[in-house]
Amino acid sequence: KKVVLAYSGGLDTSVILQWLRDHYQCEVVTFTADLGQGEELEPARAKAKQLGVDEIYIDDLRETFVRDYVFPMFRANAIYEGEYLLGTSIARPLIAKRQIEIARETGADAVCHGATGKGNDQVRFELGYYALEPGIQVIAPWREWDLNSRERLLAYAEERGIPIEGKQEGGGSPYSMDANLLHISYEGGVLEDTWTPAEDSMWRWSVSPQQAPDNPTEIDIEFSGGDPIALDGQAMAPHDLLAALNAIGGANGIGRIDIVENRYVGMKSRGCYETPGGSILLRAHRAIESITLDRESAHLKDALMPRYAELIYNGYWWSPEREALQALIDQTQTPVNGTVRLRLYKGNVDVVGRRSDNDNLFDASIATFEDDAGAYDQKDAEGFIKLNALRLRVAARRRPSSR
Ligand code: ARG
Ligand code: SIN
Repeated sequence: KKVVLAYSGGLDTSVILQWLRDHYQCEVVTFTADLGQGEELEPARAKAKQLGVDEIYIDDLRETFVRDYVFPMFRANAIYEGEYLLGTSIARPLIAKRQIEIARETGADAVCHGATGKGNDQVRFELGYYALEPGIQVIAPWREWDLNSRERLLAYAEERGIPIEGKQEGGGSPYSMDANLLHISYEGGVLEDTWTPAEDSMWRWSVSPQQAPDNPTEIDIEFSGGDPIALDGQAMAPHDLLAALNAIGGANGIGRIDIVENRYVGMKSRGCYETPGGSILLRAHRAIESITLDRESAHLKDALMPRYAELIYNGYWWSPEREALQALIDQTQTPVNGTVRLRLYKGNVDVVGRRSDNDNLFDASIATFEDDAGAYDQKDAEGFIKLNALRLRVAARRRPSSR
């Protein structure tokens, strides 16, 4: 028996590695993904070697993560419950896919992840595994073992000779964290009291708005087919562009949120997130859509967006309904080309300009408050309003004094 483990190199997944061997008498293949979490990955290799793993996969997935997952999601302007930009949610389907590919390459019959039995991540990983490899066996140690406390976990590590020094999840931070190129999330610890504010020292990528520079930073983002392709006139690969926006946004105090969200498994959960680049991208994308998208396409997208966001949050990336929605969204993006100018200032992202050479639907000669030279006949509006008012007038005649 052989298992592909999603391995971070931290204590938890190292214990899982040994536990898998102890409980399933299996061979373990480790898989560690670089999603731009900003951590050295070589220590994970060293640790896996030290623990006697023969097949060690360490993959740089930054480019595919941003190009094939983050950007398609941003075409939808997806936000969960009005606030959350889905930074963790969107990474899980890619990790699941790569794990399944490695299982095929190495002839493994099972896959394993380190998500708990109380969260969304288990659902996202496993829906992905099953959608891509229906017969795969899934092992979720947190739902199976009895090491559900820090002390038990440490005792097991000690007993089985797993080094506990060195890197812990979140570098020993008191929070449960998840990071990739789109965001960092913080949950647990003092955040479990919904009235306790987050400590300023918690945030890793951004300064607080109060400490941000007193002068605004102006940037231009160019879009092609709904995706950002250049920053300040310089073409950039997707992951480089997002990383650059994270740096600029973080320096201006952009993208911090503190929310209570509804997990798919039923509970409410407090979380803090910093998503500097994503917060800028969302504003910029909506701005370029504002001049290039037809009204009804834009409103249809807006109506479908919460459904799309919920699919991503709940783990249905690899589902027929997500693919159908994606096809619709992608088709609307053909004319979404042009440049947006933004001012970043103390936590705010302000759109100050937008233009498109070939796809601009904004027509000043129609919209103008000055003489429009016959482009729009104001008399037409009278009939337009009267016919729209017809049913209101009929109803008002039936019940003349109802309000
Ligand atoms: N609550 C967020 C979500 O469901 C973040 C989850 C973070 N996951 C983690 N393993 N720390 O997307
Ligand atoms: C976890 O349970 O692994 C983290 C939280 C979540 O998945 O929502």
